[in-house]
Amino acid sequence: MEKLGRNDSCWCGSGKKYKKCHEAFDDKILQFARQGHMVPSHDIIKTREQIEGIRESGKINIAVLDYVAERIKPGISTEEIDQMVYTKTTELGGIPAPLNYCGFPKSVCTSIDEVVCHGIPNEHRILKEGEIVNIDVSTIYKGYYSDSSRMFCIGEVSEEKKKLVQVTKECVEIGIKNVKPWTFLGDMSEEVHKHAKENGYTIVREIGGHGVGLEFHEDPFVSYVAPKGTEMLMVPGMVFTIEPMVNMGEAGVYTDEEDGWTVYTQDGLPSAQWEVTVAVTEDGCEVLVY
Ligand code: MF3
Ligand code: CO
Repeated sequence: MEKLGRNDSCWCGSGKKYKKCHEAFDDKILQFARQGHMVPSHDIIKTREQIEGIRESGKINIAVLDYVAERIKPGISTEEIDQMVYTKTTELGGIPAPLNYCGFPKSVCTSIDEVVCHGIPNEHRILKEGEIVNIDVSTIYKGYYSDSSRMFCIGEVSEEKKKLVQVTKECVEIGIKNVKPWTFLGDMSEEVHKHAKENGYTIVREIGGHGVGLEFHEDPFVSYVAPKGTEMLMVPGMVFTIEPMVNMGEAGVYTDEEDGWTVYTQDGLPSAQWEVTVAVTEDGCEVLVY
C-alpha cells in the first residue's frame, strides 16, 4: 500500500483527510495481512459512485435476462438467444461484454446440459424439450461491468435435472448470506460447497467467480471449494460474482480444443450455474445484479 500522510486526502477520492476517512480501515486490513492472509489492494475497492455505476449496468443485465426469459422455449436456436441479447442490450444503451472478449465471437454464453460454461451460440443448436440451459449475460454501461446468469428449463425437464438447477440456485443464495466484511472468501465458499455435497453434487474447481466492475474480470478469483479461513479477506467496497458451477457427477471438466471456449463435464453428466454480482457492505452484502 502507498504511504499516505494522515493529513493527505484519502486514496478513495472522497476529498476527506486520510485520517478521517480510510486510515483505520487500512490499519485493519494491514493486521490481517500481517497474519498471513490475502487482502484486497485499493484498486479493487469501489467507491459509492462506482458501485452506483455497476448497479445501473446491472439493471440492463437484468432486463436482458428478463427479455430472454419471456422468449426462451423448445425450437429456438442459441443463435436466436444471442440476437436477443445483442439487440436488447444495445437498445438499452449497453454493450454486451462477451462480444470479442479475448476473441469470444458472440454476445452471450449459452451452456446446455453437460456444457459447464462458455457455450458459444450457434444457429444449428436448437433448444430441445428436457434440456437445461445457462444463459450468462454480461453488460458494459458507461464503462461499468455487470455479470449474471440464470438457468432455464426447456419444456418438461426430469426431476433429477430440476433438482440440480434448484440446489445450484440455493448454493448462490447461501453464498449471498455468507458474504460478510472482515471474514474470508473461503468462509463463504465452504458453506456453498457443503450444500452441494449434501445433495450429492460436486463443484468445479478450475473456474469460479471474479472481481468485476471496472473490468470484466478483476481480482480476486473466487473459488467455491476453498475451506473456511482461506482466500481473500472481504472488506466493504469489494464487488465480485458468486457463480458456482455445480455438477451432477464428478467435478472434472475439459475445454473444447477446437473452439477454445466450450467447457464440458468430463463424465458427460449435466452441470448447472447461477450467477449474481454482489458488493460487500458494512454489515453483509448488497446484491447488485441477480
Ligand atoms: N460471463 C462469464 C463469467 O461469468 C465470462 C464469459 S467470458 C466470455 O465470468 F468471453 F466467454 F464471455
Ligand atoms: Co462471471
